[in-house]
Amino acid sequence: MCGIVGYVGSRPSQNILMSGLARLEYRGYDSAGIAVIGEDGTLGMRKRAGKLSVLRDDLARTPLPDGTTGIGHTRWATHGGPTDRNAHPHLADDGKLAVIHNGIIENFAELKAELESDGAVFASETDTEVAAQLLAREYHRNGDDLEAAFRATVNRLDGAFTLLAMHEDHPGLVVGARRNSPLVIGLGEGENFLGSDVAAFVEHTRSALAIGQDQIVAITPDGVRVTDFDGGEVEVEPFEVTWDAAAAEKGGWPSFMAKEVSEEPDAVANTLRGRLRENTVAIPELDGLDELFRGIHRIVVIACGTAAYAGQVGKYALEQWARVPVDVELAHEFRYRDPVLDAGTLVVSISQSGETMDTLMAVKYARERGAKTLSICNTQGATIPRESDAIVYTHAGPEVAVASTKAFVAQITALYLLALHVGRVRGTLPADVQAQQVAELEAVPGKISWILEREQERVTQLARWMADTRSVLFLGRHVGFPIALEGALKLKEISYIHAEGFAAGELKHGPIALIEPGQPVFVIVPSPVFSAQLHDKVVSNIQEIRARGARVIVVAEEGDAAVLPFADEVLHIPLAGPLFEPLLAVVPLHIFAMGLATAKGLDVDQPRNLAKSVTVE
Ligand code: M6R
Repeated sequence: MCGIVGYVGSRPSQNILMSGLARLEYRGYDSAGIAVIGEDGTLGMRKRAGKLSVLRDDLARTPLPDGTTGIGHTRWATHGGPTDRNAHPHLADDGKLAVIHNGIIENFAELKAELESDGAVFASETDTEVAAQLLAREYHRNGDDLEAAFRATVNRLDGAFTLLAMHEDHPGLVVGARRNSPLVIGLGEGENFLGSDVAAFVEHTRSALAIGQDQIVAITPDGVRVTDFDGGEVEVEPFEVTWDAAAAEKGGWPSFMAKEVSEEPDAVANTLRGRLRENTVAIPELDGLDELFRGIHRIVVIACGTAAYAGQVGKYALEQWARVPVDVELAHEFRYRDPVLDAGTLVVSISQSGETMDTLMAVKYARERGAKTLSICNTQGATIPRESDAIVYTHAGPEVAVASTKAFVAQITALYLLALHVGRVRGTLPADVQAQQVAELEAVPGKISWILEREQERVTQLARWMADTRSVLFLGRHVGFPIALEGALKLKEISYIHAEGFAAGELKHGPIALIEPGQPVFVIVPSPVFSAQLHDKVVSNIQEIRARGARVIVVAEEGDAAVLPFADEVLHIPLAGPLFEPLLAVVPLHIFAMGLATAKGLDVDQPRNLAKSVTVE
């Protein structure tokens, strides 16, 4: 949460900062601000509550003197409401020092009291201003040495933070630090960048450095120096950003979400690429881990939100193909209940951003307790993969809309690849079964495209008709259950409609009381070809709700005639093997949520109260 960008070089920094912030706005959008050391050597700052466009308009009306050193911030409020005053940057040292921050400084109250007793006066309610005032005090105590002062400051802070600072006495220098919060360096020619992620600078350079935990970086136009919190020099890992700036642009699409839903086939295809071999699966990144996979007796999947639903789908595949018991846990619940972990437990984390604080903390907790950790992640150089023993990247490309869509199908794909890889290594998968699953996987991108081509307009039309709906229920069984949960989450997240997902079999144990005449219920119907028994059970559930007046919208395989008499609407998906239906059934649900939010005139990319990357616990 919160997007951060820093620049030093020879070009005017304001446009660079503003376009970096535009690419990071998905991280938070309740206020934004920039600070620049102008040509005249003085520090100028502008910040405004509201989306980045408010700041942009303000700067267009009353320009800020430009200069070649600057920092910028887009905020998701934690301490203090989303006001001009609480927006970042925060200034100290009579307006000569500017600080921006992502994260939470947990000991801010104690530090604030200490600084106030020293005479400091605060202008905001934020924890960030405490860091700014502390840095100003340390700056003078350290002979105006910004880097030394910064080191002294971060060593006093508890919690999670990425901090950037600059001082007008030091044009051409931006210092940054990170603890449990992201920060990457972009390397240019005679210019350097800092960002919460590579999107901040990918239009200028694809050459990047990932900074480790508890490290400080100082960038100047010609150099980058990384040290630890004690001042020791640190070697940092370079990497090449694999996607270009256009991948994170809206292109001609009305929203990032629309673009990203359209990219679901590519997200699956790109995640499969290089991992399928002659009717079997071999993930090159997992070479050398066969012993580990043979030795495990349990897998625990940890994730949050949509990623956790992907985990719930993956559980079926991991258990069926790799024959390992799997528990799926919400990361924020996992580490607060003293879970049983040992060296025979493999903890698989799933995260699009790789920065979700709850998931990161759960991974660290699991490692400390002796479990092996494997990260399924979509973002290169992110913190969670760096903290894990093994990584399987999804290759969905940058996902900008807050609602996760293409990353979800890529996560399920990666979990299926993992299940097939581990099953092969453990010898639990006959060759013909492997070959069959590989063929199913290869067919998924084409089948998703089929849905987009054939059903998108119809689903969108349905969403328009239902724009006044106040509540929608989703039902599924087996792998359809997590898809029901995902359908409901997507709808509440972007259209602000009450929505709930239930296991269809659970209905009669309580939720059926919610059914009243006209209540819309989406039902994900399993394949009659591959799962006749499950199919018939779900058809019975449909009859139960119809008998009570529900309006039934089914997501069913093309050709499933048995369901037609009981459905008010049928959304078709192509025939697919039993475990592959989730990758298809979710697509109309994503389209529906997007269509309904659009029909209500809402911002589908930036829903209220949310941020893409949840970097606070
Ligand atoms: O970046 P992550 O995959 O770790 O994010 C996890 C959740 O915050 C995320 O999936 C969230 O639920 C989405 N906004 C749902 O669309």
